[in-house]
Amino acid sequence: MKPKIVRTVESLRREVARWKADNLSHAIVPTMGALHDGHIQLVREGFQQADRVVVSIFVNPTQFGLKEDLSRYPRDEEGDVEKLAAEGVPLIFAPTVEEMYNLNAATSIHMEGPAKAGLEDKFRPHFFDGVATVVAKLFIQSQATAAMFGDKDYQQLMVVKRMAKDLSIPITVFGVPTHREDDGMAMSSRNRYLTKSERSQATAIYKSLTQAADKIRNGKNPQSATRAASRSLTTLGFKVDYVAARNAETLAVPTNTTEPLRLLAAAWLGKTRLIDNISV
Ligand code: PAF
Repeated sequence: MKPKIVRTVESLRREVARWKADNLSHAIVPTMGALHDGHIQLVREGFQQADRVVVSIFVNPTQFGLKEDLSRYPRDEEGDVEKLAAEGVPLIFAPTVEEMYNLNAATSIHMEGPAKAGLEDKFRPHFFDGVATVVAKLFIQSQATAAMFGDKDYQQLMVVKRMAKDLSIPITVFGVPTHREDDGMAMSSRNRYLTKSERSQATAIYKSLTQAADKIRNGKNPQSATRAASRSLTTLGFKVDYVAARNAETLAVPTNTTEPLRLLAAAWLGKTRLIDNISV
């Protein structure tokens, strides 16, 4: 059956009130649309955690910088609806920008902590305040008790977890393992911008991260392992924004050898910016 599409907070609330009256729990999967298998994985995980799943589709302008690709961002609502119908998703929330940000809005969220780790935030200064604001609104609007986010956007996941905790929003944020193509490439809506040859080159990011993780497991210092990964990507023609080893929870620079580590990378290949991360 086709999912019902609602475009206002009022109609979203009406739908979830019915579920609540029937004692059914629901999870939210926040997306910006252009859904790929990675999103479908989030939906399936949502159904593991709750009786119903609502998927939001909203290309959030406040998380795009002036020079970023808001107008270029892929949109395919018809295709998205079809994919979600195949997964048995009953409800899609697809608000307009006006509905999400009413003209008189005077409130937004500013975050420190994981949002100021010197990773994505260094290159996209508006990004996490925009994400935290829209995700907080989606959590409150949907009244879901579970939310699914991909590990792929690891800093985003840590930011959203922290925001929900700090604001005491009664929701559990789940991180879902990155969905990868057979060659290891992390799935992303932006992969469609890659030319054929860039696409085959792009797996080097994942490969360099796994090599660095192996070296660290074998006793190499994390900073030298990530520096080597960055150098090898540069040699292959990437413009590297960062390759970093960070504490897996706080995203702070590690200070001892017993901390859980996450390796994170962002690099440009031609006109496309790619990110990936793995645990050590
Ligand atoms: O990861 C995304 O697609 C977006 O940042 C999100 C979480 C839907 C917020 O707009």
